Amino acid sequence: MMATHISSGACLSVFCQRKGIYRVRAVASESAPAASKIEEEKVKLGGSDLRVTRLGIGAWSWGDNSYWNNFEWDDRKMKDAKSAFETSVDCGITFFDTAEVYGSMLSLGAVKSETLLGRFIKERKETDPELEVAIATKFAALPWRLGRQSVLTALKDSICRLGVSSVELYQLHWPGIWGNEGYLDGLGDAVEQGLVKAVGVSNYSESRLRDAYERLKKRGIPLASNQVNYSLIYRAPEENGVKAACDELGITLIAYSPIAQGALTGKYTPENLPTGPRSRIYTPEFLIKLQHLLNRIKEIGENYNKTPTQVALNWLIAQENVVPIPGAKTAEQAKEFVGALGWRLTSEEINELRSMALEIQPVIGFPAEKL
Ligand SMILES: NC(=O)c1ccc[n+]([C@@H]2O[C@H](COP(=O)([O-])OP(=O)(O)OC[C@H]3O[C@@H](n4cnc5c(N)ncnc54)[C@H](OP(=O)(O)O)[C@@H]3O)[C@@H](O)[C@H]2O)c1
Repeated sequence: MMATHISSGACLSVFCQRKGIYRVRAVASESAPAASKIEEEKVKLGGSDLRVTRLGIGAWSWGDNSYWNNFEWDDRKMKDAKSAFETSVDCGITFFDTAEVYGSMLSLGAVKSETLLGRFIKERKETDPELEVAIATKFAALPWRLGRQSVLTALKDSICRLGVSSVELYQLHWPGIWGNEGYLDGLGDAVEQGLVKAVGVSNYSESRLRDAYERLKKRGIPLASNQVNYSLIYRAPEENGVKAACDELGITLIAYSPIAQGALTGKYTPENLPTGPRSRIYTPEFLIKLQHLLNRIKEIGENYNKTPTQVALNWLIAQENVVPIPGAKTAEQAKEFVGALGWRLTSEEINELRSMALEIQPVIGFPAEKL
């Protein structure tokens, strides 16, 4: 795909040479890199051959009515999710993260996130047949699922919901209480059967990560990634050896909840709490303590003409070997993420923000990472 950036202020890219048709995509996005630049700066995921954009988009909230969306899913939210997808692609972000457990199969109009992502891709391809996206999805290591076959069966179900013939990245969503060796063997089988280009884990501790890496290595398969909770205010991967092990072994760290589920955007305050289960994590007391750091993030951002969200994401990218996957519910949110790319905080700013963040008690993470 070739693109020429001809914008000033607005990000206006002319995409050309697709079967002789000139395509124009206009995206209003202040000081964001052009889609062609984002394409150029794709990174290899660990030791695999899969190349993904420096930042991906998390699709957990798409179709969900159990954690996000005030427990309701409706047509308006569907349209917003679709425009988040469209805008991401327009801006050159083509890496999307979902999971078999995201969204709902059941009741109240909610839809599986995989089903929606598959639908958005299919609809987009009707007008953009050469679009290439990297789909990452995940296997739920539920206690009754045992053996390598369970991984293959779940992957085939995911592939079916997504409406594709293979996915780019398949991850074990969390370590199982038992059966982990079988799951890893299932990942290896999935690669060998051509169902997936790269494999990874999620919420894996350092020792589990090393074991998984070794087991796959024996079959000549690289463990490409470990997806963990990592943000300026949740730095467990820096403290528990996971980040260092990823760097040492050449495994990409995919950072989930990179803007602390909205808390690092600065829009939530003790007077304006997030809704739903998030209000129990990001309490008024916590948000009061966060204010000092948020003020500094805002101040630093102003020097670059960047928002706090963009500073928080840039801080993560600056750690190297980290691909954040912020969740976008709307086109505006997706567009803002793109502005986190193409510039860099200084080392002094990176260190200053970390030391300020050290003064804040981290929020509770997903206990699976301690399994
Ligand atoms: N492997 C795992 O166990 C695991 C766990 C969690 C997440 N994940 C993955 O990581 C992805 C991202 O994590 P996450 O969704 O938990 O948290 P996140 O990316 O830190 O936060 C996403 C939320 O922040 C708010 N937001 C997003 N952009 C914004 C903007 N520009 N301005 C203001 N608010 C904005 C939105 O919610 P509101 O608009 O409602 O505030 C959005 O849903 C998920 O979608 C999922 O793919 C994986």
